[in-house]
Amino acid sequence: MTEPVGSNAARRPRGFGIVGAGVISFIHAGAIASIPGARLVAVTDVERERAESLAAAHECAAEPDLDALLARDDIEVVSICVPSGLHAEVGMRAAAAGKHLVVEKPVDVSLEAADRLIRAARAGGVAITVISQHRFDLGLIELRRLLDDGQLGRLVLGEASTKWYRSQEYYDSGRWRGTWALDGGSLMNQGIHYLDLLLWCMGPVAEVTALYSTQTHQIEVEDAALAVLRFVSGAVGTVVASTAVFPGFAQRLEISGTSGTVVIEDGEISRCELSSSSAAPGLRGRLTTRGSGKSAAATPAGLDIASHAAQISDLLEAIEDGRDPAVTGEDGRAALEIVRAIYESARDGHPVKLPGARRLRGSS
Ligand SMILES: NC(=O)c1ccc[n+]([C@@H]2O[C@H](COP(=O)([O-])OP(=O)(O)OC[C@H]3O[C@@H](n4cnc5c(N)ncnc54)[C@H](O)[C@@H]3O)[C@@H](O)[C@H]2O)c1
Repeated sequence: MTEPVGSNAARRPRGFGIVGAGVISFIHAGAIASIPGARLVAVTDVERERAESLAAAHECAAEPDLDALLARDDIEVVSICVPSGLHAEVGMRAAAAGKHLVVEKPVDVSLEAADRLIRAARAGGVAITVISQHRFDLGLIELRRLLDDGQLGRLVLGEASTKWYRSQEYYDSGRWRGTWALDGGSLMNQGIHYLDLLLWCMGPVAEVTALYSTQTHQIEVEDAALAVLRFVSGAVGTVVASTAVFPGFAQRLEISGTSGTVVIEDGEISRCELSSSSAAPGLRGRLTTRGSGKSAAATPAGLDIASHAAQISDLLEAIEDGRDPAVTGEDGRAALEIVRAIYESARDGHPVKLPGARRLRGSS
């Protein structure tokens, strides 16, 4: 760690650096600016003008390269916002320099790379969180509480659906987009958000059976993926992810148990049906939450900073308290493992069993 846990110095705003100054970096910069205990110090990008425009917008330094950013001792935490297949490479260098890590999703595109990154963070004694910002959406916080209280009973069915639309211009906007080596398709890039939520609620997966196809884009990877899951608990589920569904719809998560069902749409509870015998007073019948109303269904520009800010704040508290962050490197790896199993099943045309079926922390 760059600083002993619980030291007085930990109370001053922690310095952040951002590596990769593209679309998502502006959300990180906005989120960091909104956290009293954080301060954006410097950014870098292989395309210098991108770093300079992010730095100008957020009044911080633009460093010429990663080494220069990592050499700054006023930076304690690094947000990794480069293309997905470069997360481990950049993250390992940051960990070796003693920086705590906020790694954009997916943790990387291969399990080998994810393992290298997690090992490097451990070896460097630094904290790592993999972005899954929707775990911090209001509806998910409420759903997690209902699950922890056992209000849904024994879980029987879980469904995660991302029916989004991305234009060919979106894929053409970066050479890494739509490639197997650096990106992955609609499941790896977009669907992984609600897949992670499904795993968080339903627990580890025993087996997947999947199909995928590339129908409307000129890309290597899939623009539609469909999987059936059997969970270790015996419950079953489905995952749908596409970037070819016009005009793009709300992301949905539906969790059903023996005494209730909760439906989430874009981070808000749109329906909550609990049996009167299990529901706490005030929660019987229906309950809904309202969120920011923002959605990335049709364009990545629809993102909101609040949930990123909540996850980054959690990392800072975790460093302070010497605990694991709410979303760990292993959690990011667990979601990636299911993406890889779905791709393997779809490619080879047979069910894929998950090795070990590790339990996710906090899952029911
Ligand atoms: N959490 C979310 O909701 C969310 C949304 C969008 C993107 N993302 C993730 O964020 C990551 C970046 O996506 P994006 O849409 O911002 O991509 P982008 O192409 O807009 O930005 C990536 C930037 O990284 C730079 N870069 C590439 N290699 C680099 C290197 N070695 N060192 C420094 N800079 C480098 C590029 O020049 C580019 O400016 C991806 O992993 C993506 O999955 C997450």
